[in-house]
Amino acid sequence: MKGVLLAGGTGTRLRPITHTGPKQLVPVANKPVIQYAIEDLKQAEIQEIAVVLGNKGQEDVQQFLGDGSWLGVDITYIVQGEPLGIAHAVGCAKEFVEDDPFVVYLGDNLLRDGVVDLVESFQAGDFTAGIALQSVDDPSRFGVAELDEDGQVRRLVEKPDEFVSDLALVGIYVFSPSIFEIIEGLTPSDRGELEITEAIDVLVDSGEKVDSHVVKGWWKDTGKPEDILEANRLVLESHTGSQNGVIEEDAEVTGSVELHKTAEVRDGAVVRGPVSINRGTVIRAGAYVGPYTSIGPNTVVEGVHVENSVIVGDSTITTDGRIVDSLIGRGAAVTSARDLLPEGRRLVVGENSKLKL
Ligand code: DAU
Repeated sequence: MKGVLLAGGTGTRLRPITHTGPKQLVPVANKPVIQYAIEDLKQAEIQEIAVVLGNKGQEDVQQFLGDGSWLGVDITYIVQGEPLGIAHAVGCAKEFVEDDPFVVYLGDNLLRDGVVDLVESFQAGDFTAGIALQSVDDPSRFGVAELDEDGQVRRLVEKPDEFVSDLALVGIYVFSPSIFEIIEGLTPSDRGELEITEAIDVLVDSGEKVDSHVVKGWWKDTGKPEDILEANRLVLESHTGSQNGVIEEDAEVTGSVELHKTAEVRDGAVVRGPVSINRGTVIRAGAYVGPYTSIGPNTVVEGVHVENSVIVGDSTITTDGRIVDSLIGRGAAVTSARDLLPEGRRLVVGENSKLKL
């Protein structure tokens, strides 16, 4: 079994964060989303992995993952270029896959329980493809599967306008190499993409056996800022915390807090977990870092209360007041305008930023 990990796409819904890098490198609990996917594939004993790259952030992804040896896997890079659809991206991996069955993992998906169950379920039967499903409240955001009375896949619909089913397609699929012939016969959909849902539909219509597996543990597609915050909350909830950094005597650190050995909590600052604080970051006087917050490397937090937020890193957050439910990109400076005249907020806001003041 091989793995094909998709790291292309445009990431429009995560702008401005994705202006400077691919969405698959956005950190959740201080680990890029794509690393969780590699670890899941490895756990399913898949070591040969192709990472399909888009136009944006190719170097960033390659720099981060390297040849994969540090994660115990062997990575091959394939350039898709323009995001012409998930099926197109999969088609780019034909030579890499050869005659093996393979798992396709959408690099912005995050699953509590990984892919072992799906792979085992596929291997246990004589299937041409395997899909993973989960019931959702907002099926129009996803591809969905309609099943018949026996639980067999009847048809798949991508982002249905009208209700078809509440069973969304999780972004992991298992295929036998016969899928490539079907992909070659696809034409672009109304949104101009080669749709993987359509390729699977062709399999179903031609009577091939498609395994459908309902995912029980939580699953997140991290396409939007609120999804990143939710994923961060879910991952931090399962962490036990490891306080390796410096905690000054007058500072207070309680609950499950991952504090990097080079991070510091000083001058009476308060940190209440679950929280993750990365290398070189300092939490200083007047700061309160509350539950479900991840703070990346080399950041200073002072005077401000932060809760349920992701601060990517290399930032200065030294204002007063409260920051909640926020996603703050790398290199941001959020400082105080208190003593400045004329009174007022001073903003240098990048394209497609969203501020609620
Ligand atoms: O997350 C699950 C959903 O993922 C499924 O329910 C949908 O059926 C499926 O189409 C997909 O929907 P999204 O709208 O989330 O797809 P997105 O365009 O965000 O792409 C998903 C991943 O695949 C993302 O990591 C980028 C990558 N990708 C996407 C396209 C269109 C590529 O590498 N190349 C592409 O051409």
